[in-house]
Parts: sequence; structure tokens; C-alpha cells
Amino acid sequence: MDSPLLETKLYVPKLRRGVVARPRLSEHLSRGAAESKLTLISAPAGFGKTTLVAEWLAATATKERSAAWLSLDQSDNDPASFWSYLIAALQTAAPAVGATALSLLQPPQAPVEAVLATLLNELSAVPNDLVLVLDDYHVIDAREIQGGMEFLLDHLPPRLHLVIATRADPALPLSRLRARGELAEIRAADLRFTPDEAGAYLNEVMGLDLAARDVAALEGRTEGWIAALQLAALSMRGRDDVAGFIAGFAGDDRYIVDYLVEEVLQRQPERVREFLLQTSILDRLTGPSEATFSSSRSTAVAAGIATTIFSQMCCGPTYWTSCTTACPTCTEGRVSGTSSKTCDRKRSRTRWPPGISRERRTWSSARSR
Ligand SMILES: Nc1ncnc2c1ncn2[C@@H]1O[C@H](COP(=O)(O)OP(=O)(O)OP(=O)(O)O)[C@@H](O)[C@H]1O
Ligand SMILES: [Mg+2]
Repeated sequence: MDSPLLETKLYVPKLRRGVVARPRLSEHLSRGAAESKLTLISAPAGFGKTTLVAEWLAATATKERSAAWLSLDQSDNDPASFWSYLIAALQTAAPAVGATALSLLQPPQAPVEAVLATLLNELSAVPNDLVLVLDDYHVIDAREIQGGMEFLLDHLPPRLHLVIATRADPALPLSRLRARGELAEIRAADLRFTPDEAGAYLNEVMGLDLAARDVAALEGRTEGWIAALQLAALSMRGRDDVAGFIAGFAGDDRYIVDYLVEEVLQRQPERVREFLLQTSILDRLTGPSEATFSSSRSTAVAAGIATTIFSQMCCGPTYWTSCTTACPTCTEGRVSGTSSKTCDRKRSRTRWPPGISRERRTWSSARSR
């Protein structure tokens, strides 16, 4: 790798003040680390994945266990970059490992299995437990990296445990690991804030003075999605009509739309944003209908990616509904960079293929995730 490693990608994220303790999830993580090879934390944006792992590492730190962290980004889809960072992360916890493997990554690069075999042999000699966290793994789609990760998982030394935090399930042999009891999973349903956690967050951390029924209503409307609870709390500060605000709070709230645009939509390739723009007129869209938009393969690919995006943005019935409210707002006015007037014109000019009308439809593949 030519450019120097960015050390900040190797730091465990600093916890903000006022993190709500989640002992049931910490126990889940501890059990996973003790009993399985991989803990997969898979949930849409802003569900508290990173915070949970950082909090668990801080709360359970012991002399017998060290932890390594890597925050991935798009540039790590290059295999040399990915493996260099992964080894550098391991070296923060086990400085004696990885030097030979790193040298094998230099041109002419050795086959990845040779690099990993060298690394794994050194890791086997580490005398303590080691947890390696790969955060934001959804940015990785390079097949070569997935293949290497599969090799790594197959031959992981017993004292090394891998934690992957991601917005979408990775292309790793999850079924095989699950069948062998080697996979621990934490998903959106587990990460949702319970009414008690929502109450602690809204009243103790955010300093609101909400009655139990308002907390319950907000928890219900957000389905425990912490990012939405946080944005709702910010919007609510200084308001008198809290109950009215909560009743109207939905996916088209300005803060929610801004969050989804910044965190999810703006990070998509042009063809995906174009697909989302074209389909934003629909309330719902069936999986098979995707194909009728165009026979072009790139559109079909874009539709597949868009499906993944929906899974990164929404999950339960409420967010499914609010997503269909939020997405047109996001896609029409913001992602495309067009004004809403332009979008209105586009909307009226758009000619829909036969069978596609502006009626309620189901994006079935997104819902089934
Ligand atoms: N237990 C908690 N107590 C208080 N705030 C929390 C807690 N968990 C998450 N948050 C807050 O919710 C927001 C989203 O959390 P976090 O960044 O951990 O989500 P994420 O699932 O990792 O999102 P992304 O997919 O964008 O990486 C952050 O502002 C974080 O501070
Ligand atoms: Mg995160």
C-alpha cells in the first residue's frame, strides 16, 4: 500500500456522555465471544451497533482479553488496503504479530491465502483472548476480500473472536457458521430500545421531562430506533406541545430526512440514486415489478442495491411506512440535487411501464430481510 495508514481507523470510538447501559446486549456479546467464532451485528443505520460494541469493550475490559478495532470505509475494498489495515488493527492489541504477513502484501504480492496462513500461525501463539472488531463492514463488497475472510474464519485460532458490525449481512458463510453453533447474532429486533431504555435516554440523557405515556408513544412511533429517538429529542427541546409533536412525528421529519440522506442515500452510486428517483413516485413496489422498469441489466443491479438500501434504512412496519414517506422526499428533492419543483415536473413527465401505477405495492424482497 502506497499511502500511510490512517491511525484513527484503528481507535475504538470514544463513547459520548450519557450512553444508556444495555446489559442484556452486553451479555449477549460476552456469550458470543466465549462460545462462537463470529458475532454478527447486522442492523440498519443508526441502530446503535458501534456504540454497543464500544461500550461492551469498555465495560468488560480485562487483562486477559485485548481488543483490536478497525473502522472500514470504501477505500478498503482494495484487498491490499483491507488486509494491511486488518493486520495493523491486530498489531494494536498483539504487537508481535503480522510483520511477515505485512511484508508478503508488498509487491510482488503473495497469494492472499499465504498472507493469511502466516498471520494465523502467529495469532495462534498469542497467549490471551483477542477480539477483533470490523465496523461498517457493509462497505466491503470485493469478492477477493470476502474469500479471504472466509479462509480467516475457517481457520480462526480459538482465542481470537471476530465481531462484524454492518448495515447489511455480509457475503460470508453465515448459514454454515450458524449450523455449527459458531455464529452469535444481534439484529435490529435486539437493538431496538425497550420502553425502559427509551425512557432513560429521553429523560435522563436528553434531559426531557416526558410522561411515561409520551415515552411509550415515541418508542412506538420510532420502534426503538435510537437515531430517530435522538433526532426526535432534539426536535422536541423547547416545545410546549410534546404530545402533538409525538403524534405527528414520522419518517418525513426534517431531521430524519437529513439523516437518511447524509448517512445512506448520498453514499450510493449515481445509477442507484437515479433508480430511487424514478421509483420514488410509488408508495410500494413489488420485487417482480423491478424488472419491468427496464430490461437493462444495470437497472436490475441498481434495483438490487436499492433493495439493500431500504433494508439499511427501514425495518419494521412503521419504518416501512415512514420510509415510503421519507424516501420520495429524500430522493426527489435531495439526492438527485434537483429542486422539488424540478421533481414535480419529473414526476408529471414520468411515463410508467404497464402495470406500474401509483398504488400501494410491496417491495417484497426488502420486507423479507
Ligand atoms: N446506548 C446508547 N445510549 C445513548 N445513545 C446511543 C446509544 N446507542 C446509540 N446511541 C446514539 O445513537 C446514534 C447512533 O448510534 P451508532 O452510531 O452506534 O449507530 P450505528 O448502528 O453504528 O450506525 P451506523 O450504521 O451509521 O454505523 C449515535 O448518536 C449514538 O450516540
Ligand atoms: Mg456504526
